Amino acid sequence: MTSEREFTGQVALVTGASRGIGAAIARRLAADGAFVYVNDRDPNEAAKSVASGIREAGGRAEAVFADVADTQAVEAMFRAVESEHGRLDVLVNNAGIVKDGLLATMRDQDWQRVLDVNLGGAMICTRRALRLMMPARRGRIVNTSSIQALRGGRGQANYAAAKAGLLAFTRATALEVADRGIRVNAVLPGFIDTDMTARVKRVGGDQVLERIPVGRLGTPDDVAGVVRFLCSADAEYVTGQGFVIDGGLTIS
Ligand code: NAI
Repeated sequence: MTSEREFTGQVALVTGASRGIGAAIARRLAADGAFVYVNDRDPNEAAKSVASGIREAGGRAEAVFADVADTQAVEAMFRAVESEHGRLDVLVNNAGIVKDGLLATMRDQDWQRVLDVNLGGAMICTRRALRLMMPARRGRIVNTSSIQALRGGRGQANYAAAKAGLLAFTRATALEVADRGIRVNAVLPGFIDTDMTARVKRVGGDQVLERIPVGRLGTPDDVAGVVRFLCSADAEYVTGQGFVIDGGLTIS
């Protein structure tokens, strides 16, 4: 049964949580009682202010910094989590970047960095989190994929490949750890109103809106609610799945 404070006593780490979708997920889990580690790549005020905002609202949170694509930095971040709490109940692999460009002229580094952060980062963090979750025989992991994993997307061969890879990674990992009490799922947001989509909104906002059946862009909270559900006891029998959150865009 879902209680008002679903995650009381639990520890969560949300990557890429200094703004946008990750910040909304961090706030949501904290509002439901979790101690939340608010990760971002480099030390910055935005991540610290997400954490202090959570504390001011009566929650518990701390900013932690590591480039998710850097194994050593991730190791140091998890060691801090381990020594402070000795447990990790929820990992949300949300950090993501775009480096759009047509494939014919795509630079090697733009291909590689997008794969390294969006897909490699989830692998590095998940692998490390399992060392805490497997002995506890409990854990929930949510990976932030994208509807571009299903649809492709002009100028996003790198991003679409990474996000599709993340879906396959979700299923394979879910299979490996299901008997350890660990569930692994993915969310596939559509067009969510954040910094990442600001340019598209500026140049083609009306056209995008026309294609969204519910008639509005998504908000970070639209995604956070589904992530919260996937991490909750209500989703205890759900693993290896991808949940599209797009206001009907992919069915239109
Ligand atoms: P955003 O650009 O507003 O935020 C991304 C966050 O990730 C920032 O805090 C950034 O500093 C952090 N980050 C970037 N590289 C990092 C790294 N190497 N290590 C740690 N943190 C890093 O993006 P938004 O829109 O909030 O996206 C969050 C996730 O949702 C991403 O994975 C994105 O691909 C995915 N997504 C977003 C959609 C949208 O419409 N905004 C649609 C579908 C998926």
